[in-house]
Amino acid sequence: MGILSFQVTAMNIMEKIQKLKKEKNAIFLVHNYQPPEIQDIADFRGDSLGLSLEASQTTADIIVFCGVTFMAETAKILSPEKTVLIPEKTAGCPMADTIRSRDLQKMKSEHPEAQTLCYVNTTAEVKAECDYCCTSANAVTVVTQALTHAKEIIFVPDANLAAYVTRKTGRTFVTWAGSCPVHAGITPQDIRLRKVLHPTAEIIVHPECTPEVIDLADQVLSTEGMSRYIRQSSSPEFILGTETGILYRLRQENPEKIFYPLSTGAVCPNMKKITLDKILTALEEMTHEVTIPEDIQKRAELSIRRMLVYRS
Ligand code: 13P
Ligand code: SF4
Repeated sequence: MGILSFQVTAMNIMEKIQKLKKEKNAIFLVHNYQPPEIQDIADFRGDSLGLSLEASQTTADIIVFCGVTFMAETAKILSPEKTVLIPEKTAGCPMADTIRSRDLQKMKSEHPEAQTLCYVNTTAEVKAECDYCCTSANAVTVVTQALTHAKEIIFVPDANLAAYVTRKTGRTFVTWAGSCPVHAGITPQDIRLRKVLHPTAEIIVHPECTPEVIDLADQVLSTEGMSRYIRQSSSPEFILGTETGILYRLRQENPEKIFYPLSTGAVCPNMKKITLDKILTALEEMTHEVTIPEDIQKRAELSIRRMLVYRS
């Protein structure tokens, strides 16, 4: 295909998407790690917490969720009367998939006094087994404000996030050995190399990184926290230890600042499965609709609503 016909096709797709979106009263919720062309069509772009809040408040009839499945499930749980579509149904989160509800039931039976906290990166079935849900943006606040009196806390599935919250709060957790392959793949050696190349740049990492990486960082923030922090920072250069998709947003928001990825290999393949073609198909054919059994939806909603009380 020549460049001209490629541009015409891309334009046709965009026109069709916008027309159908209007006709069907749809909204596009887009995670910070999505490819640039998907971020460009977002009605709302943000982190897991912001997207959940948006899903709970929208007046649209259809939510087209451009992210991974646990995020689309969370949107459906918060807005069960709405149609939630995920343009690519295999866009999962490998960390969320490490733990099933029966695993958590077993942990609960071994720790009958424990309160249960799950990271939003879990399936709806796991959320239904939990007292509280949190994101990386509010995990510390949920532990310090909501779980103050808990004798014991089961915190699943991210062992790195749990280790980070332990450092910040002094609380220890019964954990699950899950981790994000993208963030756990960032190494202290990556930081040392980048520091040699850009010695004055500020290093910001996501709390899903390992404790060894967190030790060498200047700031530890969720994706939305990164955006907020960088907008008000006077530093001219930043090294980002998270999925590289966020660099597009950060460069748009801060054209005068310079950004480097801590690791160019920090790419989440599942986040890149959403394409404009698939969004068009989703709107045309109403695929792939997210459905949650009613009992799971009701129980999971409780832990997610508790999460929404704590903004950061
Ligand atoms: P945020 O909540 O910071 O957007 O992170 C979600 C995620 O999947 C991180 O890998
Ligand atoms: Fe899951 Fe990691 Fe991808 Fe986030 S970046 S969706 S935690 S695999």
